[in-house]
Amino acid sequence: MGLRFSTLLVLLYFIYGFVVISSNKDEYDPTIKTMEEFSGYPIHEPDFQDSLSSLSVETESLQRQIDELATLSDTPAPSVTRVLYTEKDVLARRYIKNLMSLSGLSVKEDAVGNIFGRWDGYESELAPVSSGSHIDAIPYSGKYDGVVGVLGAIEAINVLKRSGFKPKRSLEVIMFTSEEPTRFGISCLGSRLLAGSEELAQLLKKTVDGQNISFSNAARLAGYEDNEALSSVFLKKGSYSAFIELHIEQGPILEEEATSIGVVTAIAAPASIKVDFEGNGGHAGAALMPTRNDAGLAAAELALAVEKHVLDSGSIDTVGTVGILELHPGAINSIPSKSHLEIDTRDIDEKRRNEVIEKIKESALSISKKRGVKLSEFKIVNQDPPALSDDEIIKATESSCKELNLSYKKMISRAYHDSLFMARISPMGMIFIPCYKGYSHKPEEFSAIEDIGNGVRVLALTLAKLSMS
Ligand SMILES: *[C@@H]1O[C@H](CO)[C@@H](O)[C@H](O)[C@H]1NC(C)=O
Ligand SMILES: *[C@@H]1O[C@H](CO)[C@@H](O)[C@H](O)[C@H]1NC(C)=O
Ligand SMILES: [Zn+2]
Repeated sequence: MGLRFSTLLVLLYFIYGFVVISSNKDEYDPTIKTMEEFSGYPIHEPDFQDSLSSLSVETESLQRQIDELATLSDTPAPSVTRVLYTEKDVLARRYIKNLMSLSGLSVKEDAVGNIFGRWDGYESELAPVSSGSHIDAIPYSGKYDGVVGVLGAIEAINVLKRSGFKPKRSLEVIMFTSEEPTRFGISCLGSRLLAGSEELAQLLKKTVDGQNISFSNAARLAGYEDNEALSSVFLKKGSYSAFIELHIEQGPILEEEATSIGVVTAIAAPASIKVDFEGNGGHAGAALMPTRNDAGLAAAELALAVEKHVLDSGSIDTVGTVGILELHPGAINSIPSKSHLEIDTRDIDEKRRNEVIEKIKESALSISKKRGVKLSEFKIVNQDPPALSDDEIIKATESSCKELNLSYKKMISRAYHDSLFMARISPMGMIFIPCYKGYSHKPEEFSAIEDIGNGVRVLALTLAKLSMS
């Protein structure tokens, strides 16, 4: 053996794209150790190369599961509508629990229906590594948002099981309750609670939906009887050694650049603000211009001020939107006496975003003064901090991409996800896959099964690495 064999090995390493080759045998190399454990074979046997090719995703059954889950919808295909605690949501939850059981995971649910499926590691006393996403869908949306990260995580576990991998830390799949704010106006309800939001636990006691059904009743009707003690949902910081979410990009970059994987480095966080102006109104003909205090014009001026302050931040990552602007009484011949704006502003830099909010507030005050209208409300509805991905998780994901010979780029997530809240209690990372034209939240949402399969393989390998660390 000797020389010829090691030359062959080095060649194999190059062909299969392994970047880490340590010539110093004494040097501890976690990558190699991981791969050794992972492959189930000693690393210096030729069989070793099979370990990566054995990371095969059963794409046909994964696509079938995505399609089956999409039929649990309150609107006709191709649209999907699946709202928290509705009959279809309950059926979809059953579907997920069933798949978890079929994969040999032990399934558990908390008081609001966050679902956990665990594969015990051989050092199961260590904090587990987890992965997951959501399956609720806003009205008339698509079948990939969230779903890819839940079904994909279960398939990633299957991939690892088929390859013969044995995790050291336990691996866990999480399906989060209500990432979308559709029913109760609260986004990331499940993950926010998991992260220990006492504020949300209190709020939920008095929250009702559009039909005046209380959160607690809706949960009870869906089979979650013990939802009074919401603090039972809280998890301690350190409950997981890592959390990683697979998700469609919901933007066009990966597809445009023909890149397989996005490694998320930070998640921008939204703040939302509600503003009300009040003036005297009046007749559109009779009231002369100098005497007016037009609440509509105050709103228009504030909308432009939002744009200005956002642009003044100097960063492409700062964005702001006035998505709602309502005028009262809303008649062509009546000067608006009331106006209502809802402003969404986001950034990956919390300080910069909060400065924008401060400037918007100053503008609202100065506009109200200048125009003689009353600023009857300026309310910051929520102001979540952005989150940075964990360096070790980023590195593990990058090296998984390299080892699988998949192109990748580092990018930020401009949409928020359950990961934003998991970052409060665990090191966090995200894996993006391309989606058609960046479409999301509409029926045209689409990701090719090849891209989903790539995402699942990267997830599987990353979970394997993180499990051994
Ligand atoms: C790696 O990817 C490149 C580009 O897609 C391809 O040309 C090459 O054959 C791949 N190598 C292996 C070992 O799969
Ligand atoms: C909503 O329900 C509560 C309690 O059942 C009731 O007191 C209240 O009047 C209802 N509100 C509306 C707007 O129907
Ligand atoms: Zn989502």
